[in-house]
Amino acid sequence: MMHLYDVRDKTVVVVDIFRATSCMTTAFAYGVKRITPVATLDECLALKSSLCYTAGERDGKKIAEFDFGNSPFEYMHPSLLGKDIAFTTTNGTQAIVKSREAREILIGSFLNLSAVAKHLERGENNILVVCSGWKGKVNLEDTLFAGAVVELLKDTIKAACDAPLLAQHLYSQAKTNMGEFLKHASHVQRLARLGIKKDIDYCLTPDQFNVVPVLKNNVLTVE
Ligand code: MLT
Repeated sequence: MMHLYDVRDKTVVVVDIFRATSCMTTAFAYGVKRITPVATLDECLALKSSLCYTAGERDGKKIAEFDFGNSPFEYMHPSLLGKDIAFTTTNGTQAIVKSREAREILIGSFLNLSAVAKHLERGENNILVVCSGWKGKVNLEDTLFAGAVVELLKDTIKAACDAPLLAQHLYSQAKTNMGEFLKHASHVQRLARLGIKKDIDYCLTPDQFNVVPVLKNNVLTVE
């Protein structure tokens, strides 16, 4: 649906709650210096060097030749302090690459929800939350994040169409127990089939970190 929006005058917040943007937020909070998000496995492997790790997944599974997969717990390691990572995922990095024309690009997750909302409140651009979804289709968890942002900004920023209102309504139903609300969600089921449960609980925990990753010249950093 991104073709419906002109991102050039906007601050875009890219979100992939399960789990790409939650991994990126965690990695920066634990001291990673730069993340280069790319669309393909080949682009990612081409960036591998003694100074740059490779990371990501396809269909939720780690790539054999890569250094790291797509669990946020992998990014809590002290060996990553000051390091660079090239990152490619099924949906999250694709959404970042598709947003490249935007005036400003931020990475959002529940883990840095309030930090992102404060950054947006201070900014002057129109805002678009780009929900990565799953292979072009809608998912619930990214929509909930969009709703949480709308909720936090409702007194200062006006919704431009019904999509933010829809997300806000959904979030208000889910917010007291997002884990329960999402138990039938497609990617929760997919991750459960891969035996991944603790990532889900972690990725739904709000406001763990005060970091806002920003994309400049195709590289993510935090100030
Ligand atoms: C993605 O970017 O497609 C997801 O983060 C997939 C996953 O959960 O590994």
